[in-house]
Amino acid sequence: MQYKITDNEFSLFQDYIEKNCGIHLENSKAYLIENRLRHLLFDYNCKTFVELFNKIRSDKSNQLRDRIIDSITTNETFWFRDIHPFTTLSEKLLPIFSNDISSGRKNKIRIWSAACSTGQEPYSIVMSILEYFKQNSSHYGSYFEIVASDISESVLASAKSGIYDSLVISRGLQTDIRDKYFSMDGNLWKVNDNIKKMVSFKKLNLQDSYNTLGKFDIVFCRNVLIYFSDLFKRDILKRIADLLKPSGYLFIGSSESDSNYSNDYNMLSHKKTIYYQVK
Ligand SMILES: C[S@@+](CC[C@H](N)C(=O)[O-])C[C@H]1O[C@@H](n2cnc3c(N)ncnc32)[C@H](O)[C@@H]1O
Repeated sequence: MQYKITDNEFSLFQDYIEKNCGIHLENSKAYLIENRLRHLLFDYNCKTFVELFNKIRSDKSNQLRDRIIDSITTNETFWFRDIHPFTTLSEKLLPIFSNDISSGRKNKIRIWSAACSTGQEPYSIVMSILEYFKQNSSHYGSYFEIVASDISESVLASAKSGIYDSLVISRGLQTDIRDKYFSMDGNLWKVNDNIKKMVSFKKLNLQDSYNTLGKFDIVFCRNVLIYFSDLFKRDILKRIADLLKPSGYLFIGSSESDSNYSNDYNMLSHKKTIYYQVK
């Protein structure tokens, strides 16, 4: 049987998805809802998409909502994605923070990975930090705290486990770094505890308040703004600016730009990275 979505059903889900996770789907994206939510028709014993939609109302535990969000979000990620932000972290920012620590100006450096997916971004941040301080024979790695968040329960569970199969582990990770920071468990690779203990994972919808997170020195909010409306991008960039400590830094994805959405940052560049510093 072909489960086709009607225009009316598409517009119900289009609104629902934007309200519940900010993802803005153009009218041309009906196929995406159809493909990504079709398995829920079977799981919830529905014959049409409107029947599925009507089940949301009686879904007191929000389980269906979470499954819709899980199915609709794009979780693509890999180790040291786009490499340049991590080079900038090591070559420009860690030397600054290292000075701040040694002079006593800072005793904690906090970094937020704001849409961390299955954990490759926050763990790559930690590996960059540990590599930098190892080369500089310093113990300052312990001054860093990484908070990683995502809206999706399933990617967070995977991130928290720190366990990856051999295909996933090979995407962007050099074997010498892999062997230093992961150990093999059967056919799987497990991130070492010294990396894991530097990251705390939280479920957070970027539409919700960031107040409980505290202030940050650096925010990575990469490859997620592209899914949102201009209004929501402006809102997120404003609230990240409020959350950054004075002179704090922001990395967004290489195909994303703050220029139309915020006046709160100065644009900086290092090699092939554009990054931002709060004014
Ligand atoms: C393409 S991944 C990017 C992962 C990583 N930042 C990177 O650059 O490799 C986008 C992530 O954003 C998350 N996401 C989508 N909408 C969100 C929202 N409203 N709040 C928090 N996270 C969201 C998705 O669950 C997904 O894991």
